[in-house]
Amino acid sequence: MSASATPAQPTFSLTGRTAFVSGTSRGLGERFALTLAQAGADLVVTSRTLKSLDGIVKRIEDLGRKVLPLELDVRSYDSIVAAVQTAKKEVPKLDILVCNAGCNVRKPAVDVTWDDWNLILDTNLRGSFFLAQQAAKEFMIPAGYGRIILIGSVTCVAGYAGLAPYGASRGGVKQMAMALADDWGVNGITVNVLAPGWFKTAQNAVMYENQEWVEYLSDRIPLKRPGATGDLDGPLLFLASEESRYVTRPRISCSGESIGEPLQRQRWSPRPSTK
Ligand SMILES: NC(=O)c1ccc[n+]([C@@H]2O[C@H](COP(=O)([O-])OP(=O)(O)OC[C@H]3O[C@@H](n4cnc5c(N)ncnc54)[C@H](OP(=O)(O)O)[C@@H]3O)[C@@H](O)[C@H]2O)c1
Repeated sequence: MSASATPAQPTFSLTGRTAFVSGTSRGLGERFALTLAQAGADLVVTSRTLKSLDGIVKRIEDLGRKVLPLELDVRSYDSIVAAVQTAKKEVPKLDILVCNAGCNVRKPAVDVTWDDWNLILDTNLRGSFFLAQQAAKEFMIPAGYGRIILIGSVTCVAGYAGLAPYGASRGGVKQMAMALADDWGVNGITVNVLAPGWFKTAQNAVMYENQEWVEYLSDRIPLKRPGATGDLDGPLLFLASEESRYVTRPRISCSGESIGEPLQRQRWSPRPSTK
């Protein structure tokens, strides 16, 4: 390595890249798609209901990018294969994949049902694996290039009351990313986990109804606030862009680093959520 050449200014540009973001109808996935489009990428966006992609499609087109909306249910292998095959017909390449589609059910552990467990694990863990598998197989391995970003959580490494199945799914995502990075590094594909903290979206809106809990949470975060719009843009762009070319396997935490402390302490009761 020579230190004599003048370092280039990092641009994080995605011009000429195509990105696939699962679960783009709302929340973090919608923001991820817009962030990647703003940086120059064309997009494949997905939902279980095509109609709910109308808004994001228009916003991406307004940025001057191409966008392909697809129906995708990551709980169905056939749906994953069909979406990737359709993408193969419609877009010339796929450089970036963000496995964002996910769900949660918050319940005391003794109330978790067999179906709750399957819903969460099938969506967050199995769905992410097979979507990554199909994207790698059909696009990235043949091209010798790829950026796969798996969405994790603080529960990748910490456990909280009411979140046993969710934590199991996110711990699994972290372990899976380490294996996939090893599998596909030889193919020029990086695999990383972006782990958001507590962002206010439909998935955890019920928590934010309780101001006392928000204050309690904020107090436990070294940066003293939950995640806000835009906080994930930089970490996402880094992992999606050329600037992260020699970064694979890590979990990049974007949570104000709220990991470690139990969050229950009798200040809130986990309430069931269907999201
Ligand atoms: N919010 C946070 O603080 C936070 C923290 C850590 C991790 N996460 C993770 O980040 C991701 C996005 O979270 P969010 O808060 O933005 O949640 P959200 O608002 O509930 O959005 C979830 C997205 O996933 C899609 N989805 C759900 N089940 C799906 C399925 N079976 N097949 C395909 N798509 C499915 C939904 O699309 P349709 O309903 O339109 O199909 C929706 O677009 C999730 O994986 C979540 O677990 C969130």
